[in-house]
Amino acid sequence: MTRIQERPPDAATEKIGSLDDARKVVEKLRDAIRYHNYRYYVLDAPVISDAEYDRLMARLQELEERFPDLQTPDSPTRLVGGQPRQELGLVEHYGSMLSLQAVYDEEAVRAFDATCRQELAAQSVDYVAEPKYDGVAVELVYQGGHLAVASTRGDGQTGEDVTPNIRTIPEVPLVLLHQDLAPPQRLVVRGEVYMEKAEFNDLNRRRATQGESLFANPRNAAAGSLRQLDPSITASRPLHIFLYEVAAAEGIPLDTHLDALHALTRWGLRVNTEWTQRYSDADALLNYHRQLAEQRESLPYEIDGAVFKVDRYAERERMGLRARNPRWAIAFKFEAHQATTRVKDIRVQVGRTGVLTPVAILEPVAIGGVEVGRASLHNQSEIERKDIRIGDTVLVERAGDVIPYVVKPIVEQRTGNERPFQMPAKCPVCDADVILSDDKKVARCDWVNCPAQLHKRLVHFASREAMDIEGLGEKRAEQLVDSGLVKRLSDIYQLTREDLLSLERMGEKTADKLLQQIAASKQRPLARFLYGLGIPLVGEHIAHMLAERFPTLEALMDASVEELAEMEGVGPEIAQSISAFFSEQRNRDEMQAMRQAGLSLPNPAAAQQARPQPRPLEGLTIVFTGKLERWTREEAEELVEQLGGRATSSVSGETDFVVAGPKAGAKLDQARQRGIRVLSEAEFAALVGR
Ligand code: IVH
Repeated sequence: MTRIQERPPDAATEKIGSLDDARKVVEKLRDAIRYHNYRYYVLDAPVISDAEYDRLMARLQELEERFPDLQTPDSPTRLVGGQPRQELGLVEHYGSMLSLQAVYDEEAVRAFDATCRQELAAQSVDYVAEPKYDGVAVELVYQGGHLAVASTRGDGQTGEDVTPNIRTIPEVPLVLLHQDLAPPQRLVVRGEVYMEKAEFNDLNRRRATQGESLFANPRNAAAGSLRQLDPSITASRPLHIFLYEVAAAEGIPLDTHLDALHALTRWGLRVNTEWTQRYSDADALLNYHRQLAEQRESLPYEIDGAVFKVDRYAERERMGLRARNPRWAIAFKFEAHQATTRVKDIRVQVGRTGVLTPVAILEPVAIGGVEVGRASLHNQSEIERKDIRIGDTVLVERAGDVIPYVVKPIVEQRTGNERPFQMPAKCPVCDADVILSDDKKVARCDWVNCPAQLHKRLVHFASREAMDIEGLGEKRAEQLVDSGLVKRLSDIYQLTREDLLSLERMGEKTADKLLQQIAASKQRPLARFLYGLGIPLVGEHIAHMLAERFPTLEALMDASVEELAEMEGVGPEIAQSISAFFSEQRNRDEMQAMRQAGLSLPNPAAAQQARPQPRPLEGLTIVFTGKLERWTREEAEELVEQLGGRATSSVSGETDFVVAGPKAGAKLDQARQRGIRVLSEAEFAALVGR
């Protein structure tokens, strides 16, 4: 990386007197653009808006044209995008993946049309108009009708190999269809992978409750999801694709872009037919852009403008390229959905899962016709990273249905009266201690009975995997909390028949049944109870391990962080979380109330621990090959050792069994050759009684 300069505020506008002046400004611009390329393409975490980036690039292009002596082959104007990530493996593109020149006003569109007509010596030119998607550009190569390689744009020449990841997107056919038109021997198509706005918001909400860092916008979420080393992560994310260019369709005569897109749909590839239109004059293009802008909010995906492309391939060829852009296409971008305003205050909201989220209270400002008065600030770490202070003038972005967020403070407008924000030490709803994670990304209130969380906690406590109280779901829990009958979890054990009958839609039969269910839950084992408490990071598995290690609830409550962290599978973070939970005096009181209500919390898990472990693998040597579903390789090997066996990495004369999962390799062949018994994972599980 060269010198890092986030934002040269002056470089984009600075007056130039001499070649020397120009050289300095050009260098500054190049440094800044390289840095922003890196933030955008490599880190998926841009720190400026697209419009600001375009402005820097336009200024650099202009200076390089005015001062040809300053042109260099490694200038960002010659490159597309950033450096590809090496870990994913690299793919050379079929011809370079270009980018589009961005324009922001009608005049520029008319000028584009005029240039095309002039150069093609035509009265009118056919164009195809499409949305400009705000996602991740990809190239797909189909060989003999089968998906062979998929890559990201990378630096335009070479991209990252994301084939296994792309294969997890349901909309991407692995085999092309043959419907009245045979697919070509080789097909190279390009398009955009994206995440829908609603799906992005859901994903972030889920991540927030799990204490994971949030994605800034759908584009970053799509990029982050696609560029995973583990494709199963990509598979778990809702990704989509639109194809919008054909780079090669060998043996298929295609004269126009629109014909090519039609062919794609027949081969089963997804094209946005609704918004792909042919026009032949500038007015029609401008009209399309207006309509698209009007519909922008209601589209499920994010777009940031319209793309206009010359339709006929022969004409495209005649027009050629200019630096990194084709001259036969432009992107007419929308006005940025951004505005500046002042942060009046930063307040903290307590979510239903106990996560505290700072929210900027803004001087109301209209963005894209909607008044914005609050913006999400995600978490303390984000606020510090962006250095947002109370009283700052800030740039706010609101795009589509995505919750408005603060892009950055306008540092130049500080008066000195701004105040940094500090996460409060006490929950603003219930006054319990706030627990802030070391990386400052997650702040939570852990009191089980915090009013902001009680409803959700009650539903969780009663859920099937926890205390298993049938009939105590979302609706019933809401009634109990809203009516004031339940102010803390343990109150459910004090409910009387009369209490329940005072609720709406509650008959005698239902009331009796619920009381019976609640009473039965007093016998649930400790592990289920621990899970039901909703201690951050304590899922069913950890709850079970805790019950194995600690014979009683009280023993666990008194365990030190060190004791907890020493446990296999419990890292320092989980240990911290458990210890913090039980350090809150009010949680301790609640545990006592549970006991007084008659919860016996039997613990068969600990009883089992006390018996000597059986050793069914005594004296056996086992080799694993291929992928296992239930255990990681390390866990499986450890299990073998625990049960008295030996796990080795290669097949030899001493090997008693080979356990083979999917994608088993050479070891499986060796085992067969030697006549060693091969077990499936299920057979192995049965053998060890798991
Ligand atoms: S055509 C030369 N069509 O914009 C043709 N690109 O700045 C280049 N993009 O890398 C691609 N929507 O990520 C094309 N309908 C569309 C597009 C589109 C979004 C993106 C794409 C590309 C970038 C070019």
